[in-house]
Amino acid sequence: MGRQGRQGRWGRQGRRKDKLLLPLIPLVPLVPLVPLVPLSPCPLVPLVPLVPLSPLSPLSPLSPLSIPHKEGIIKRKISFGIVRYSYKGENVPLRSKMKLAARVSQVSPSLTLAIAAKAKAMKAEGIDVCSFSAGEPDFDTPAHIKAAAVKALDENKTKYGAASGEPKLREAIAHKLKTDNHLDYKAENVIVTNGGKHSLYNLIVALIDPGDEVIIPAPYWLSYPEMVILAGGVPVIVPTDASTGYKITPEKLREAITEKTKLFVLNSPSNPTGMVYTPEEIRAIAEIIVEKDILVVSDEIYEKILYDGAEHLCIGSLGKEIFARTIISNGFAKAYSMTGWRIGYLAGPTEIIKATITIQSHSTSNVCTFAQYGAIAALESSQDCVEEMRQAFAKRRQVMFDRLNAIPGLTCEKPDGAFYMFPDISKIGIKSLEFCDALLEKEQVAVIPGVAFGADDNIRLSYATDMATIEKGMDRLDKFVRSALASSASRSPI
Ligand SMILES: Cc1ncc(COP(=O)(O)O)c(C=O)c1O
Repeated sequence: MGRQGRQGRWGRQGRRKDKLLLPLIPLVPLVPLVPLVPLSPCPLVPLVPLVPLSPLSPLSPLSPLSIPHKEGIIKRKISFGIVRYSYKGENVPLRSKMKLAARVSQVSPSLTLAIAAKAKAMKAEGIDVCSFSAGEPDFDTPAHIKAAAVKALDENKTKYGAASGEPKLREAIAHKLKTDNHLDYKAENVIVTNGGKHSLYNLIVALIDPGDEVIIPAPYWLSYPEMVILAGGVPVIVPTDASTGYKITPEKLREAITEKTKLFVLNSPSNPTGMVYTPEEIRAIAEIIVEKDILVVSDEIYEKILYDGAEHLCIGSLGKEIFARTIISNGFAKAYSMTGWRIGYLAGPTEIIKATITIQSHSTSNVCTFAQYGAIAALESSQDCVEEMRQAFAKRRQVMFDRLNAIPGLTCEKPDGAFYMFPDISKIGIKSLEFCDALLEKEQVAVIPGVAFGADDNIRLSYATDMATIEKGMDRLDKFVRSALASSASRSPI
């Protein structure tokens, strides 16, 4: 809003003009003309019950009503048919109104998106960048999925839809969860969202109250803690290392749980490490979740990208008790190369899903209607396209893994899933941000510093890119690391 607009509404001294005008308006004669306050037909006016108005009624224009809402933070005032939400401290001067909400300073912009954008911009300038930064398949969306969305567009499926998602897509997702993951959900247990990220955000907003603790094993996907902070919750980060395959152990999970713990975030296969929890590990975690009576959100967005016989076991499928405490978050971005389509979903207990639908109905409404028909085709057609992409990733994974481990000073665990490598750079003598900055500057190779994922001794490389880029990028990384090791050796005392 421009300065003029603000001044117009708030006045030069930062005081509301309408407040100053109030005493000039003749109040009483208006009352008999407005016998009823109707159920709100206007979207700006929240619903008020049908109540006869009298000068003594709390809804009367003579009696502005303050309804305590959300522990007294928000008040609703009603006067002359106008309903207005107001906040404590509404008469503070304009300058402090411009101050951003405290929550903004508590979160940082996504480093992965920032580095991927920087690499793209360098490429656009004609610089020969090898980018391993983006977390997205380099394949086109399969033709039959695009065709289904185009058909829906031609059929004018272009209107608002249900906030919960197209009924046919919700059913297709429930069916997928039953056949692939052995989860007994109905369509009403599913909400279609604007991507997996949005699924998780909706869930956190629906579940987490200020002070609630959410356990997140590190290395973690960088948005988890930020979402918890935005909701006023407390992320409880449990560090892991290569000795446990960057996976949380049952003992560590048990130690981290307190009275305030509400949710545990499980991500297998993992971004950034590519690690996959074995069925035994999933069973051990499930037992603790049930015993301690907390919830688990299982982020399964990479479930289809597995190697060397690794198995994805869905934690919610292990019995009634754990099923009742599980929320599944998934999406179409990674398995079907549909990152820009922005379609994800949550499945879980009815009450939780209903709450996320309410939240979504007031924030984004429905997911793009015709795009959802592409998602239906993705689920209902042959899954060969998923397997073709997986096989291509498998070949690149082997090449990148061998090349990384041949670089002196780097060590890398072999990931069983997703499309990331997470080598340890601790022997190089610099931390991850400095490493990535210098690598981009000197060798034009874009990778993500592990510090973004809560692991400053690592870097993340995505191998969702072509083989020629992998070979060239590994040559450059090799050169960079050798030179960094040589200069750190010359600096260290003999
Ligand atoms: C672990 C994890 N969860 C969720 C998402 C969100 O995916 P989407 O593109 O569907 O929002 C990502 C994307 O990178 C991810 O890596």
